[in-house]
Amino acid sequence: MNAGPAAKVTVIKHALASHSLAILRNVDTPTGIFRWHSDQIAGLLIAEATRELATREYEVTTPLTTARGERLARPLVAIPVLRSGIALIGAIQRMLPDTVVGFIGLERDEETAKAHLYYHKIPADLSGHPVLVLDPMLATGGSMSDTLSHVRAQGAKDITAICVVAAPEGIRRINDEHPDVRIFTAAVDSHLDDNWYIVPGLGDYGDRYFNTL
Ligand code: URA
Repeated sequence: MNAGPAAKVTVIKHALASHSLAILRNVDTPTGIFRWHSDQIAGLLIAEATRELATREYEVTTPLTTARGERLARPLVAIPVLRSGIALIGAIQRMLPDTVVGFIGLERDEETAKAHLYYHKIPADLSGHPVLVLDPMLATGGSMSDTLSHVRAQGAKDITAICVVAAPEGIRRINDEHPDVRIFTAAVDSHLDDNWYIVPGLGDYGDRYFNTL
């Protein structure tokens, strides 16, 4: 299936990501191992997605002399799409302990398909920040698209979606509704089934990560 314009989608190529993804897909993987590989693949996705972040030079004093160092030019903001996006926060806090983590709680009305905002705790002005929106499974793209709309309403202009697995349907929707948003994923799968699960996918990420099967 055609995922739409490819320019905004990066499927990372890394042996460790492929290794972890196969373990995440395996129905027999126990929770502890699933969590470990979720953290591993999240770290690899975040490393790729932040490769080109702007940095500023500064002088560092070493025990011997001084050296030129670099620091991130602008603080990063990470926003998990609840609930399963929370699974990807550990990796970003390990890699960048100062990262601001914001929360947007959205609930979809099944009849109107409109998203109702029930929780909102993110910086008031996101215009100066690179923003990572975290959702391990980009399926229909509905929750991701609603979250992106709220993030943009707060002024965000530099937005990257981090998804472990993406479906062509979700990619198309994000490309259509938020064409400036970059998507980083470890795999673009085949399609969605009748229950909007990604095929072949890995099942319900939140249930497997939080052990709520
Ligand atoms: N969310 C999941 O956790 N899994 C899917 O396959 C689709 C949405």
